[in-house]
Amino acid sequence: MRNYFLAGNWKLHKTPSEAADFAAQIAAAVKGTQNRVLVAPSFVAIPAVVEAVKGSNVLIGAQNCAAAEKGAHTGEVSASMLKDAGVDAVILGHSERRSIYGETDSLINTKVRLVLAEKLEVILCVGETLEEREAGKAMEVVKEQLLQGLKDITEAELTNITIAYEPVWAIGTGKTATPEDANEIHAGIREYLSELYSEKAAESMIIQYGGSVKPGNVKDLMAMEHIDGALVGGASLTVEDFSPIVNFNKG
Ligand code: PGA
Repeated sequence: MRNYFLAGNWKLHKTPSEAADFAAQIAAAVKGTQNRVLVAPSFVAIPAVVEAVKGSNVLIGAQNCAAAEKGAHTGEVSASMLKDAGVDAVILGHSERRSIYGETDSLINTKVRLVLAEKLEVILCVGETLEEREAGKAMEVVKEQLLQGLKDITEAELTNITIAYEPVWAIGTGKTATPEDANEIHAGIREYLSELYSEKAAESMIIQYGGSVKPGNVKDLMAMEHIDGALVGGASLTVEDFSPIVNFNKG
């Protein structure tokens, strides 16, 4: 049995005080859900959000981390710093990190290994661009991102990883993959993981869908066999939107 895992990626939104206020409202709104819930504020808002959700079932995510543990890396934040600040999981390989900041699969793999070494969870994002989809290469691109991103990751370590399938053309655009199209890629991801690891590892992997998830489409997406959760951007920024997403199967 796979537990649903709903995560909110706040991106470059909410100051520490706004984030703390909002996180407290989210914690109240998601009380009683059986689903795993995570919010990922900006680095500077993490301590305030950790404090605001204390005693609740809300997990804390970071949106990125350094590709080094320590040293002369001005402006970076390490996995161990995030752990000490109360973070549970780190989102890595988001398409905005790949496209705006030039992150490669090999850099992402270095980060994955550093985060796992701290015994934190990873949400590893993969997904094709519109051009790649139109060229019929969606699955090929996703497989390559998985192969490189998971390089040297053991089957035991894999239990601390969630995969987020986020087709780049669906992020922040209002265009969602149809539940069937998303499910097809999710099934392909699971099959590929069973080739790389084992059927058991593949069966228990949580695979989130991301890209314009909203209260109005979450149920149909989550009803798909291979979709086990969502990574939500825009709709994670208000209680009106995020609460029905997290509580999609309640009552
Ligand atoms: P969106 O973003 O929900 O605003 O499309 C998703 C994401 O980038 O994780």
